[in-house]
Amino acid sequence: SFVTSQQMLEDARNGQYAVPAFNIENMEMVQAVLQTAAELRSPVMLQTTPSTVKYAGVEMLQAMVRAAAELCPVPVALHLDHGESSDLAVQALRAGYTSVMIDGSKLPLAENIAITQKVVGIARAVRIPVEAELGKVGGKEDGLEVSAKEAAYTDPEEARQFVGATGVNSLAVAIGTAHGFYKGEPKLDFERLARIRAIVDVILVLHGASGVPDEAVRRCIALGVSKVNFATELRAALTRGVREALTDPGIIDPKVFMKAGKQCVQETVRQKILVCGSAQRA
Ligand code: 13P
Ligand code: ZN
Ligand code: NA
Repeated sequence: SFVTSQQMLEDARNGQYAVPAFNIENMEMVQAVLQTAAELRSPVMLQTTPSTVKYAGVEMLQAMVRAAAELCPVPVALHLDHGESSDLAVQALRAGYTSVMIDGSKLPLAENIAITQKVVGIARAVRIPVEAELGKVGGKEDGLEVSAKEAAYTDPEEARQFVGATGVNSLAVAIGTAHGFYKGEPKLDFERLARIRAIVDVILVLHGASGVPDEAVRRCIALGVSKVNFATELRAALTRGVREALTDPGIIDPKVFMKAGKQCVQETVRQKILVCGSAQRA
């Protein structure tokens, strides 16, 4: 079913597991995620970055995900990931997205608060939950790049004030993860996460989970993260499957090589659902 992210995230928080949020960019990725979520009875979020929106448009993406979600036996939400402006958030809401992120993390604190307040005000009127970000998650997400030096950990007390001032539903925290893969193992600041959880009363979101060892993701969930974002590993899986299939020059039917890519995405999605502990929750 096609739903907002509100209830599934609350349920995850109460049940001490996390809703996996997968970045999708085409029909095959949507099918791969929803088929696996249905098999494992997991609630799930599908999300699109601004560059994916540029590639396919919010109307096309929403129509495709809604159609697939309505045929799916588990709750599915469609989320705007890293919304870079209030205009883009409004576009997504108008198109029928059921969850949005406004990412003002690159802005000075007062401006991040202001843009987040604005989007919360608009989204609240149509009862759609809003995610924001405080601190800067490092790495590269499509066009968005934050160098290791620019990356900034979330300050717990600032997070408490930010949540109070904005009324946001969920908060992406920077505790040492980065978008994309890692050189070596990421070092996560679990102690900081625990301090944030202790004084901040909204859903906490972990970005940059591709390349983070399963044990570390599980520890973040135990410490209070209720949504975990996966993008790069799915893209890599699709590409690996397609590339492997295309080594056979006899293959010219897109259905054949895309199916190979889809199978690789399904395997990755399956692992991530199990890590999030969301199987059998829907
Ligand atoms: P990864 O690409 O590291 O999985 O990060 C995903 C993400 O945070 C999407 O917002
Ligand atoms: Zn992210
Ligand atoms: Na990552």
